[in-house]
Amino acid sequence: MSQPRKIIIDTDPGQDDAVAILLALASPEIDLLGITCVAGNVPLALTRDNARKVCELAGRPDVKVFAGCDRPLERALVTAEHVHGKTGLDGADLPAPKMPLQGAHAADFLIETLRREPPGSVTLVAIGPLTNLATALRRAPDIAARIGRIVLMGGAYFEVGNITPAAEFNIYVDPEAAAIVFGAGVPLVVAPLDVTHKALVTAPRLAAFRALGTEVGATVAAWTDFFERFDKEKYASPGAPLHDPCTIAWLLHPDLFTGREINVEIETAGTHTTGMTVADWWRVTGRPANALFLGDVDADGFFSLLTERLSRL
Ligand code: RIB
Ligand code: CA
Repeated sequence: MSQPRKIIIDTDPGQDDAVAILLALASPEIDLLGITCVAGNVPLALTRDNARKVCELAGRPDVKVFAGCDRPLERALVTAEHVHGKTGLDGADLPAPKMPLQGAHAADFLIETLRREPPGSVTLVAIGPLTNLATALRRAPDIAARIGRIVLMGGAYFEVGNITPAAEFNIYVDPEAAAIVFGAGVPLVVAPLDVTHKALVTAPRLAAFRALGTEVGATVAAWTDFFERFDKEKYASPGAPLHDPCTIAWLLHPDLFTGREINVEIETAGTHTTGMTVADWWRVTGRPANALFLGDVDADGFFSLLTERLSRL
């Protein structure tokens, strides 16, 4: 195996974030340098606890977890308790974390790590609103050239929005932050709703989590039982979309996914479209490509990978 890939996960746990963190911790191809928490699905006071609960569930109290921004750059915070529950990890009752929260601000950890590690050697995996990444880029513009790649869950094009008719939640919460990230000139891989809505936890897939017979398997099944109610009712779908783990799965097996290198701009001033990812899928604008925008996934392959890796915890 080649050297493990160094990553930092920026997150707003959220049950699907939690599964992404578990997948990363279960995968020897990944060297998780740290987890930076941001306000999103639930306030920062909860996301910074939830990230540590997940690390302890995985038996990894050694992971460095940092608290970051508690609100978007310019707007009031919008949360998603209606999807994730009051705690953000409703469905399973995990104990309060014992492992410490690191003292540094998430943005400072991002800056210090990127300045220390060899240029291009660190991948940022962003699975919540992009406030921490944008704050780091504004405080230290020099880090843009040092980031190997940003793999993010966010946006939508053919699938349209999930928090407004035009916008996906992570982008909608902090469109100004997203505009900074999408305009930073860093290689981007974007997992939009177009692809995550094809990674549905159907009943057989949920049963496979439960059949692991482990605390991790039971917890992931319980989280899914909880947060699938929202999507199944709204979309009449056969299961909940596992949004955030698509980013880690892309790092592990990019061949499970297809997409296009296209231009993606962020709407920050729309009356009805603020937070929209304006994805030039048909390349009509002539604007330079700035992202690999994923459109499809081998869902069976994705769930086989995920379930096998979870069995290792
Ligand atoms: O729109 C889905 C995204 O918003 C996921 O990252 C989910 O965790 C929420 O943050
Ligand atoms: Ca998330």
